Amino acid sequence: MPQAYRARILCFDPNAEPSQSARLEEDGLLVIGANEEGRQVVQMVGDYNSLANSFEEFKARHPDIKVQHLPDRIIAPGFVDTHVHYPQTDVIGSPAEGLLPWLENYTFPEEKKFVDKEYCASVATFFIAELLRNGVTTALTFATSHVASVDALFAEAQKNSLRLITGKCMQDRNSPDGVRDETEQSLIDTELLMHKWHGVDRLGYAFTPRFAPSCSDAQLRGLGELAAKYPDVWIQSHVAENVEEISWALSLFPQARSYLQIYDDFGLMRQRSVYAHCIHLDATDRTLMQSTGAAASVCPTSNLFLGSGFFDYRAADDAGMQYALASDVGGGTSFSPFHTMLAAYYVGRSGGRATVKTALLDSYQGGQPRLGISLSPQDLWWQHTAGAAKALGLDGVIGNLAVGCEADFVILNPQATPLLARRTARAESLDELLFAMIVLGDDRLIEKTVISQQLVA
Ligand code: GUN
Ligand code: ZN
Repeated sequence: MPQAYRARILCFDPNAEPSQSARLEEDGLLVIGANEEGRQVVQMVGDYNSLANSFEEFKARHPDIKVQHLPDRIIAPGFVDTHVHYPQTDVIGSPAEGLLPWLENYTFPEEKKFVDKEYCASVATFFIAELLRNGVTTALTFATSHVASVDALFAEAQKNSLRLITGKCMQDRNSPDGVRDETEQSLIDTELLMHKWHGVDRLGYAFTPRFAPSCSDAQLRGLGELAAKYPDVWIQSHVAENVEEISWALSLFPQARSYLQIYDDFGLMRQRSVYAHCIHLDATDRTLMQSTGAAASVCPTSNLFLGSGFFDYRAADDAGMQYALASDVGGGTSFSPFHTMLAAYYVGRSGGRATVKTALLDSYQGGQPRLGISLSPQDLWWQHTAGAAKALGLDGVIGNLAVGCEADFVILNPQATPLLARRTARAESLDELLFAMIVLGDDRLIEKTVISQQLVA
């Protein structure tokens, strides 16, 4: 049965600059109904009065339509998390000196537990509920190296009609017993899982080399062959997150010009490849990102928490490379897209200095200071919705409220807390309103998450 909402509606103009792309219909109409393939999509969206005539015609054809009037709510596209680890839900907030000890002391011991099917299912259930509670309706997600972890997450996502992309984590070396996989079997399992799940309902498969240091040449070569054979399957990995990690990667692949180059050498950079972090890249790397169509997942809460460094927005824009936001839970500290957007704003202000140390040197030892940028709230929001969809190759499918887009959205209550209510009431422009929600928002701002018209959270 089609449904209509009369409310304030936030959407994005795909042809505008991200910083100027948001549109807010103060008295908007959103009509959802099945398309020819039976998928629930946006049938009509825009100003209520301008659409009045077409809406009357629509109602005449669909007399059973339900109309909800929510004048003080904002309907916005569901958020897209381009990099998150479901098996790390229970190690969120675990402190460590940096990435490598964090992996060794918290992450790998936790991921070992995913050998148990029941454990996988229980974490998958919690994880998906938590995404939805926070308004996330699409995620590109790491599983563990265990086949059962992939099956459990896909099954739970399917149950909730969630658009979810995941894959078996590949790590046949430099990984402890219990998470290390075996080269040949890992490639067989990957191809089997891909056939089983890719394209089923709203699910997609991602070839998932954990990171170059954990993968042998043979494993990366095998994945590169699969990536060439199945060009619409995603690829996800990590790169250039942490300085110790980078020197380790280069010592393992001494022929590579840079850490990023390792992936390109194995045919793992192309459209639909998504590399988390991309902090310590150089100009040649950024050009490679741009020319291959790969996208960076920017993980600001994780990078701040683990002291990894700051994504350089200005350099990324200069190179024309694609990027989008991500929580990176459990290195990241929150499932909330509002927290991620706010952290991205702080990172932008840092000016992309490689580390806290270089930022201090710049400031205090006469180095050339690099100017930070003040990312606009429209840009931040775009990076977590329409821009993130674009980075995943799913623009026009998700991440926006435009005719034909899948009907995943959130209903925001700007009165959710006393301070939100006061501050949003005083907002005098769209930028002020969006900023108030980014700065003050969390899961309380998400009143409802709607997926294909199912009320799921
Ligand atoms: N590099 C390799 N594995 C991981 C991981 O699980 N989290 C983060 N942040 N970086 C990684
Ligand atoms: Zn990660």
